[in-house]
Amino acid sequence: MKIGTPLSKTATKVMLLGCGELGKEVIIALQRLGVEVIGVDRYANAPGHQVAHRAYVIDMTNATELKALIEKEKPDLVVPEIEAIATDMLAKIEAEKLATVIPTARATQLTMNREGIRCLAAEELGLATSKYAFAESLEELKTAIDSGIGFPCIVKPVMSSSGKGQSTINNEGDIQTAWNYAISGARVATTRIIVEEKINFDYEITLLTVRALNKEGDMETRFCDPIGHIQQQGDYVESWQPQQMNATVLKKAQHIAKAVTDNLGGRGLFGVELFIKGNEVYFSEVSPRPHDTGMVTMITQYQNEFELHARAILGLPVSTSLRTAGASAVIYGGVEKQGIEFENIDKALAIPQTDIRLFGKPEAFVKRRMGVALAYADSTDTAREYAKKAAGVVKTR
Ligand SMILES: Nc1ncnc2c1ncn2[C@@H]1O[C@H](COP(=O)(O)OP(=O)(O)OP(=O)(O)O)[C@@H](O)[C@H]1O
Ligand SMILES: [Mg+2]
Repeated sequence: MKIGTPLSKTATKVMLLGCGELGKEVIIALQRLGVEVIGVDRYANAPGHQVAHRAYVIDMTNATELKALIEKEKPDLVVPEIEAIATDMLAKIEAEKLATVIPTARATQLTMNREGIRCLAAEELGLATSKYAFAESLEELKTAIDSGIGFPCIVKPVMSSSGKGQSTINNEGDIQTAWNYAISGARVATTRIIVEEKINFDYEITLLTVRALNKEGDMETRFCDPIGHIQQQGDYVESWQPQQMNATVLKKAQHIAKAVTDNLGGRGLFGVELFIKGNEVYFSEVSPRPHDTGMVTMITQYQNEFELHARAILGLPVSTSLRTAGASAVIYGGVEKQGIEFENIDKALAIPQTDIRLFGKPEAFVKRRMGVALAYADSTDTAREYAKKAAGVVKTR
């Protein structure tokens, strides 16, 4: 495997589609390996734009714009960091061998829509999931609940992320509100939703799973230690690693993660989301890319999830070894404003064994993730305490 010189004709070129906080870290990891990086997002000065060699603003759901940019830049690899992309065009680009799509165009197609990945996992691979159904009207939603899903259940637009349009239905009276909310929260103008039985899990994990070449040049699957996390309104607020699990349950989780990622194929890191209840493991969904809850690995692993992704996609060997227990806690915008200031960073970093990442997003919203506090400790409990404390003292204005 060879890497050229950036900004020369030997350059190894990677195009990131999506330049949020996760894309930014992937770009930094690629930059460190001497890769030429092109950052693309829907708005100017996105976090990843600020660390890429070149930055573009386009509508990535527009197939024509996307193709034109790929033809202009001729990247070796195209690396989607978000779901809202014209994935059918990615399939064409892959078929025409214009670039390698990470991990595969099919993986991006299946995971951009909850229906694709859920049907693959439950129906094709036979993995345990919550009971589910799809609906396109209030009536269909009611019928689905009556004929087996029951209460409580969760409604989500089939195309949405970060908990957008997602809500819980506890009884008959909540159905209309949940329907309206889902329709308003969808990424695209569709009325299709998924309704899922609410699993009363003991805890949930992200199992970061890496498909990378080993030193013999063969594809190998490796797992990071499980990451535990807490979600509020479908969005992550806190994560820690390692989540304690008994060996049997961990084996089951790894088996599910391998089945799904084997099927999706390609090279790269995946975030497999699983619910654990007793000895049962339920597959929820998978990101064919670094995962927000995996930001904790920036303090817990020798090679964090972004470095693992960068290495894997380039065809380099990886190590998923854990260095220490640790935790992450989200820093929110708190206000709706452009160009906010963060106060008390000194106080946050004075808390022992902590670190901070500020993403540099040009515009803040009250619940927009603007940064993350990281901490390490002998136990995840202590690390969580430190990380939450550090995130808590940071004030925005
Ligand atoms: N069927 C379910 N049973 C119990 N909890 C659920 C279920 N579905 C979702 N949740 C809760 O909501 C969270 C977010 O759900 P999900 O991952 O499907 O949404 P998302 O919009 O894709 O979020 P993200 O993009 O942040 O992963 C889950 O991590 C879990 O805490
Ligand atoms: Mg999720």
